[in-house]
Amino acid sequence: MKVDGKDMRTIWLEPDGWSVGIIDQTALPHQFTTVRLSSVQDVARAIATMQVRGAPLIGATAAYGVALALRADASDEALERACTTLAATRPSAVNLKWALDEMVAVVRNRPREERLAAAYRRAAEICDEDVAINQAIGRHGANLIGAIAANRAGHPAQVLTHCNAGWLATVDFGTALAPIYVAHDRGAAVHVWVDETRPRNQGAALTAWELGQHGVPHTVIADNTGGHLMQHGMVDMVLVGADRVTADGDVCNKIGTYLKALAAKDNGVPFYVGLPSPTIDFSLSDGAAEIPIEQRTADEVATVTGRTVDGRVEKVRIVPEGSTVANYGFDVTPARLVSGLITERGVIEPRRDALAAAFAERAQAAR
Ligand code: MRU
Repeated sequence: MKVDGKDMRTIWLEPDGWSVGIIDQTALPHQFTTVRLSSVQDVARAIATMQVRGAPLIGATAAYGVALALRADASDEALERACTTLAATRPSAVNLKWALDEMVAVVRNRPREERLAAAYRRAAEICDEDVAINQAIGRHGANLIGAIAANRAGHPAQVLTHCNAGWLATVDFGTALAPIYVAHDRGAAVHVWVDETRPRNQGAALTAWELGQHGVPHTVIADNTGGHLMQHGMVDMVLVGADRVTADGDVCNKIGTYLKALAAKDNGVPFYVGLPSPTIDFSLSDGAAEIPIEQRTADEVATVTGRTVDGRVEKVRIVPEGSTVANYGFDVTPARLVSGLITERGVIEPRRDALAAAFAERAQAAR
């Protein structure tokens, strides 16, 4: 995608050929800064503090984290330590575990002197595969949006999204936002309702920023607005990303997604999820019972960060001192509320047999 007109990915190898560059997403939308990661500790910190976030990008960054760990020490013990450290950073997005498993698979049975090159090669492939997957998701999902736009007699198709499942959450293009970009680029009129997505405001800060960079019309709304818009016919489709999807099609995504799905069901609005196949966890079936839900610090709920009128970025407290705060990062939307899963292999019904037929090799490997 373009930043100020220049093509960029969210993660890259620096000119030295071994350290890893990322965009510091905690500084957006007020500042565009990049960070150089040169050790597995740097990578773990970047993921845990959400300088990088979004399930696919967490996986891609962790893959480079393994390469950086092996650069320092190519032993089995170092590999295991790196995977344990990285796996502990964010528990809900299964792409992290998937990427670590991929890295271990290419490294484990090689002599030490071959491990480093193999690790960098696989990390780069994981990034390139993510880009290709997201482009395919974009094409499949854009057909749905295009069909809506064609029936709107000149009015834009109205899509509501939650959190950030755009190019910032992936290596490029995004998952839920990829269909929007493709539909927009094909000339369809699309307008996006952007949930602000408290507590970390990924919608207000990141989704709004990247849609703006691409010139897609959008409106940021308070998180509780979606139901009202749906009751008044102002949403044609809800389109969100996912951090983990079970073999039965339950969808774990940013906290608040489930409430949007309930409102969508009550109002007959289709609810779609854009996801790459590494987000499917074929080892789980009942999402609400089985998916680990990340709980983050109270500080994220008790404070907000923004830019003051004189241009300083500041954090202010909005909760009384002494009040107890809870911060659940994700929730699970049951498959019965999901209209379809937009994947790189097409739009799939959220059912075990449909998912297993579309991704037979992954379903079998999990048995
Ligand atoms: O906590 P975050 O910002 O990592 O959460 C991101 C989301 O919930 C996204 O919707 C999800 O990872 C899909 S990203 C393509």
